[in-house]
Amino acid sequence: MCGIIGYVGPQGTDVTSILLDGLGKLEYRGYDSAGIAVLTSTGHLELHRRAGKIANLVATIADGAYPHPGPLGIGHTRWATHGRPNDENAHPHPDCTGLLTVVHNGIIENYAELRQEMEDIGHIFRSETDTEVLAHLIEHTYFGEAQHDLTLAVRMALKRVTGSYAIAVVSGEHPDELVGARLNGPLIVGLGEHEQFLASDIPAILKHTRQIIILDEGEIATLRPDSVSIITLDGTRVERDPILIDWDAEAAEKNGYPHFVLKEIFEQPEALRRSLLGRVSNGHLYLPELAQMQQNGLLDNIQRIVIVACGTSYHTGMIAKYVIDQWARIPVEAITAAEFRYSDPILDSGTLCIAITQSGETADTLVGIRQARERGAPVIAITNVVSSAITRLSDAVLYLQAGPEIGVVATKTFVSSVNVLYMLGLYLGRMRGRIKVDQLQEMLAALERLPNQIQHILDRASGPHDTIEKLAQEFSKVSSIMFIGRGVGFPTALEGALKLKEISYIHAEGFPAGELKHGSIALLDSETPLIGIATSSHVYEKVVSNIQEVRARDARVLVVATEGDEKIRKHADDIFYVPDTLEAFSPLLATIPLQLFAYHVAVARGCNVDQPRNLAKSVTVE
Ligand code: G6P
Repeated sequence: MCGIIGYVGPQGTDVTSILLDGLGKLEYRGYDSAGIAVLTSTGHLELHRRAGKIANLVATIADGAYPHPGPLGIGHTRWATHGRPNDENAHPHPDCTGLLTVVHNGIIENYAELRQEMEDIGHIFRSETDTEVLAHLIEHTYFGEAQHDLTLAVRMALKRVTGSYAIAVVSGEHPDELVGARLNGPLIVGLGEHEQFLASDIPAILKHTRQIIILDEGEIATLRPDSVSIITLDGTRVERDPILIDWDAEAAEKNGYPHFVLKEIFEQPEALRRSLLGRVSNGHLYLPELAQMQQNGLLDNIQRIVIVACGTSYHTGMIAKYVIDQWARIPVEAITAAEFRYSDPILDSGTLCIAITQSGETADTLVGIRQARERGAPVIAITNVVSSAITRLSDAVLYLQAGPEIGVVATKTFVSSVNVLYMLGLYLGRMRGRIKVDQLQEMLAALERLPNQIQHILDRASGPHDTIEKLAQEFSKVSSIMFIGRGVGFPTALEGALKLKEISYIHAEGFPAGELKHGSIALLDSETPLIGIATSSHVYEKVVSNIQEVRARDARVLVVATEGDEKIRKHADDIFYVPDTLEAFSPLLATIPLQLFAYHVAVARGCNVDQPRNLAKSVTVE
């Protein structure tokens, strides 16, 4: 949800290229408009802004408006919240004088009253955005009490603001100073040689540095070519050591794949192996991340588990509900974060909250979890992003270790989240004495087989006998597809439907297979196919019966089934086979052909797979 970047370095740097290249890596965060402000060597702050994707901005700049090299610049790619996605609302936003310029990710909740206040004292607004109020507030403090001290002006202005923000601010009077600040929005500092960077996310600056400082909530950083200083909103100095990022820029490139989404689908065996690393070994399960919680007795008294998440992460939580219920015999509820927050949830120290958010910055999830903490519930976070906002709200963090996921739709973070939830479920089951050692060993062995089994599905899909792409081309012409499943097959169906609608824009819905006949079956006809999740399970026969009901209505049926199941051929027009595994683990295998199917349908329809319309990878507004 909006990406920001900033640079400060020596005179004569091609800052425009650095900003545009970085914005390209952040485009997954939003692509409604893009803009840069560059302080050129002539001391002039040049502003370029365009509605639409970054390519529009690049084209404008290439058409003869390329700013002269300079020491300082900021850039932005937008996912619109306040104000339409046009040129005027594109960031960066200047103040009245044109000396100061701001980019912002987040929402200023009290912007209407602040705007009124600023207008009353003569400030002229030129956009409909909430961000512009920051430019005028900072102008007010900069030329007033802060007396041209940019960091102080930013600090004084932010004290007036409620809401969420990650911002970068520059002043034409300070060619060697870049100021950034964050509150409930991600912002990192990259340390270079005589140059420094600000960005929403690591891939944007990985080409230049792997030394990163992750700013904490309510911190302001002042970057100069040879120094970085950090203070809190109340002015207290903060010392923070950088961390070294151990993946390189290549991990965030397409590596020959036509799309990030396809690359990330094919990275899933490796992502799963990484999530098992250090946790499953020689028939033992280790979750050292939970040791502290256990020592503090936070897991002793758990009567109930509430899983809070959004989108694909919510589907991972639904799968976890089924298995943790069974393995630990603890009642588990999975709830979408946006509903959880307003449900006045019953929470106490006996309710374990599990927050799942691959980005670690989804506002709905953060707000929900904050509330859970206030009510005394212990919290475990599952996320892919080190030191992301959710990690500061949690008693323990289980990282996915999946590597960067650039495609807007979640693929490898889905399988890694489910895998981590399996390990957590087994851990809780063991802790409560519900799973015996030999059962655990059998399950861990099955878990360790999954990466190779996924590889097998991917190899077949890349070979000459692949049917997924061919079927995807046929199905790409339909306007609606239904998905059904039972037990863990139900959230699998939901995830299959979500992937398809997110990237191909075909209407798709997932249903519990037994529920279809209670209404939604009315939607089926010969033009509306159905995809059934019919892998081996204790409800297999029931799913087959539901599929028969559908076929009786002339709908074409595609089934995901377990290798060796010949009987299913009688009931299905087409089949995607996946290897056999324990029923609990079947979602991880059944999901793979559904991801590939959605991908190929989207490609066949000419959709932008990596950046689907209206979506953003992380949604930092409620
Ligand atoms: C956005 C993305 C979805 C994602 C959801 C939750 O809506 O478009 O793909 O599943 O956020 O993201 P999270 O980072 O919290 O897992």
